[in-house]
Amino acid sequence: MNEIKVAIAGLGNCASSLIQGIEYYKNIDDNSGFIPGIMHNYFGNYRIKDIKIVAAFDVNKNKVGKDLSEAIFTEPNCTLKFCEVPKTGIKVQKGHLLDGLGENLKKIVPVDPHQREENVANILRERNVDILINYLPTGSMKASEFYAEQALIAGCGFINAIPELIASNPEWGLKFKNQGLPLAGDDIKSQIGATIVNRVLIDMCHKRGVKVEESYQLNLAGNTDFLNFLEPEREKSKLRCKNEALQSQIPYKSSIGVALNYIESQKDNKICYISLKGINFGGAPVTIDLKMSVEDSPNSAGIMVDAIRAMKIALDNGISGSLNDICAYYFKNPPEQHTDDEAYSMVEKFLSSYKILNS
Ligand SMILES: NC(=O)c1ccc[n+]([C@@H]2O[C@H](COP(=O)([O-])OP(=O)(O)OC[C@H]3O[C@@H](n4cnc5c(N)ncnc54)[C@H](O)[C@@H]3O)[C@@H](O)[C@H]2O)c1
Repeated sequence: MNEIKVAIAGLGNCASSLIQGIEYYKNIDDNSGFIPGIMHNYFGNYRIKDIKIVAAFDVNKNKVGKDLSEAIFTEPNCTLKFCEVPKTGIKVQKGHLLDGLGENLKKIVPVDPHQREENVANILRERNVDILINYLPTGSMKASEFYAEQALIAGCGFINAIPELIASNPEWGLKFKNQGLPLAGDDIKSQIGATIVNRVLIDMCHKRGVKVEESYQLNLAGNTDFLNFLEPEREKSKLRCKNEALQSQIPYKSSIGVALNYIESQKDNKICYISLKGINFGGAPVTIDLKMSVEDSPNSAGIMVDAIRAMKIALDNGISGSLNDICAYYFKNPPEQHTDDEAYSMVEKFLSSYKILNS
């Protein structure tokens, strides 16, 4: 059977969109043409409905013990409800807190010290998990390393959706390689998010001979991800990832700025302003100003449904360590940066090169 068994650490807004999406795309007929919202109906031989969430870990006492279908709509989750999810029979289990919550999140995420932290590796092993996804709040380095270690112990692949460096750290890449397990990350590059739009603008300017003098990006949202960014220590890795994702598109140093701000009333709706100044033919100036509005978490889930299936193809084919081609297209901080056109071709090549099992 073509089943992909997935576990999630951090059942926040991104996990909610992913779980809703698996249900939403369940009944797509095999031969439909372009399907709004997704890049691949089949990724290799795998469809979105082949993804089964078989375990989930969180520390919020109001989520722990609940069925996934209920926990994903528990506050402070605030993303769009686009699909009713029937009872799954999978209950959220208590993960290991470590540095998972910063000062701002501690105020709104209740943790019960009497709830027992579970043995994560044992659960992953018992449920034959193929892939563990790390969806913790940005800045949770120790907790991310803990979950990556649990994946290694249990023998499953690891997707790092957050900016803490795991997949792009050669030491972690080697650990997964030595265990014969695939690894992907770091920090999801959303489907149509600020990063990809800004990168495409910079790449276009470069390819058409315009020197990018300045690029500024302001992101505003009201979800817990952005509340967390109000703490400079916690937003540091996100800013580094976003800056690096932009600067990597041009071979000279440009003045690139990224800012993140929390506006509670916006909830999971992200507004992004991008302003770019360049030098055109004969030194003539060119300015681009752009505003984008997008639901933040579904935007990341559209990437995750492909990343999960790519990881399963890697597992089927014994490909281990960081998946450079997959990381380059789907993540902001991959082990190797490429332009998005190159990375797109690398994904298509990945799909055509590997044997697709279970056909
Ligand atoms: N478009 C996007 O939304 C997007 C894009 C790229 C990256 N990301 C990253 O993905 C991550 C998740 O984003 P989100 O919007 O779902 O965040 P969120 O704040 O909604 O969810 C985080 C969840 O992790 C839980 N948690 C905290 N510490 C934990 C621990 N030690 N063990 C288990 N669970 C723990 C919290 O209780 C919460 O449920 C963030 O780091 C974010 O920056 C999101």
